[in-house]
Order: sequence, then structure tokens, then C-alpha cells
Amino acid sequence: MTLKGKHLIDPNDFTLEQFDTIFTIAQDMEKNPEKYLKLCDGKILATLFYEPSTRTKFSFESAMLRMGGSILGFSDANTSSVKKGESISDTIKVMDGYADIIVMRHPREGAPKLSSKFSAVPIINGGDGGHQHPTQTLTDLLTIKNLKGNIKNLKVALCGDLKYGRTVHSLIKTLSRYEGMSFYLVSPQQLQMPSYIKEYVKNEYNVNIVETENIEDVMDKVDILYMTRIQRERFFNEEDYLKLKNSYILTKDKIKNAKEDMLIMHPLPRVNEIDYSVDDDQRAVYFKQAKYGVYVRMSLMAHLLGVI
Ligand code: CP
Repeated sequence: MTLKGKHLIDPNDFTLEQFDTIFTIAQDMEKNPEKYLKLCDGKILATLFYEPSTRTKFSFESAMLRMGGSILGFSDANTSSVKKGESISDTIKVMDGYADIIVMRHPREGAPKLSSKFSAVPIINGGDGGHQHPTQTLTDLLTIKNLKGNIKNLKVALCGDLKYGRTVHSLIKTLSRYEGMSFYLVSPQQLQMPSYIKEYVKNEYNVNIVETENIEDVMDKVDILYMTRIQRERFFNEEDYLKLKNSYILTKDKIKNAKEDMLIMHPLPRVNEIDYSVDDDQRAVYFKQAKYGVYVRMSLMAHLLGVI
């Protein structure tokens, strides 16, 4: 089934076969970038970012520029007519006349989905509040596929803010669809993965989940350690954040008993949850992961635009 004209709001919008098609082209885009230099000639990407971003916004923009397209948009909604009170629906009804594809990040859960109801062009969810981040999941899956060979029979630890972390919400939902996956959820009690997500993946895909507050419990068991930031911006008061911000700090010493081929992943940005000394360990792949985000977003946009 063609992906042309589709929106990507939730990772469940696509089948695993469609993910595979996106990954295959993304891998070729990395190997043979010259083949794709004019693929999006004449196409325009709009990046509407109502929340800060480095990776998502700039990797999308880099992706479009690497395919010969153009970009426009905002990274501060207060510089647009949002500041004057314009609704999302009106913004989208205007922007779909100015661009061929739109990526939106918004602090409110559901904003990209709402936008997709009014848009004549594909809307990509670039992260909505504490809900979903489907293109980070595409990035994460491509990273696992590239570095592990395939996505199956893996023990994955998700660590940090599992309550508000949209990257881990999208990731566990998606990884659960692959064969033989099991999960360790490592978080302070206050930041546990929401029950509705745990129940969903258990009921739907029969995956095994173990919860713990101690990262040491999982260190020698897992194939992937996916660290996340304790997100100051999601807390309702500073005091609660300060109590939890140092819950997990990965150091060289802490990973000494981990598997030799374990992947240490992180969607970034990090604050202090991975010590900088870990960066030169061959298992630390978070900067590679960020780079794969460009190729997977090139491939995604090419498919949604129907140019490939
Ligand atoms: N991983 C991620 O979404 O990073 P940014 O917030 O910098 O886009």
C-alpha cells in the first residue's frame, strides 16, 4: 500500500512492512546520497514547532535540503500569528497552501492529529506533549536495524522518565509489534510508564514486562539500554523535579558488567543522565542514532510525498 498522502501521527498508523520499506530506502540514502539530490526538487517542507527542538526540527530540514527541496517555518510560535490568537486549524488551512508537507511539534497532546483533519498535505507528528514521537521511533528502529542486524528477540530496558516521555511511549508500542521482544522498565515510582500503555502492549502483543527502580538490576541482562532525560518542562512544580532529576546517572563504572554488544541509546538531549565519559565507549550509539534520524526522515518524506 502506498504511503503517498498519508499522515504520520502515531507509529501504529504504519504497518511493519511499511516501516521496512522506509528503512530500506533510508539505508540506501545514507550509502548513495547523490542518487537523491533532486528527489524533492520543487517541494516545500513547513516546520511548525510550538516547542523547542534541535534534532527533530533540524534533521527534518536537513533531510529536505539534502533532497533538493526547500524549507520554511517557525521555531517560536510567538513570531507567528499564533501570538495574535490564531487557531491551529486556521494556521494549518493556510500553511497547507504554502507547503507540500508539514511537521508539527506541539506541547498539547493531540494537536498534530487535530491538524491532520484540516490539512490537504501530509502532517507528521514531531512530538506532541507527553504523548507520542513517531519519527523518533523510526530513528530508533533504524538504529537497531543498522547496528543489530534485525529487530527481534531483544531485551530492552527503558530508563528514566517513562511517565511523560513521548519517545518511550511510541517506542514500546512499536517494538512490541516485533517478534520476541521483552522489556525492563526502569524508573522512579513517580515516573512509571502509564498503565494504559503497559496494558495495551501486554494484551495486544503478549510481551513480558518487568518493572524496577534500580538500573543495576538490568545492566547485565539487556541488549539495549534506552536512557531518557528527566524532563523539567513536564513537571508541575520545581520541587518534584529537583527530587527526581538525578535518579539515574550512567557512568563507565555502572556499565562494566553490561554485555559487550549492548547498545546504549538516548533520543537526546541529555542533561546529566549519561556521564560524558561514557561517550567514547563503543556501546554508546546516541550520536549515531541522531544522524540516522536524517536518513529515516528523508525516506519518510519521500514516501509521503510520493516521489519514490
Ligand atoms: N530527540 C528529540 O526529539 O530531540 P529534540 O527535542 O532536540 O528534537
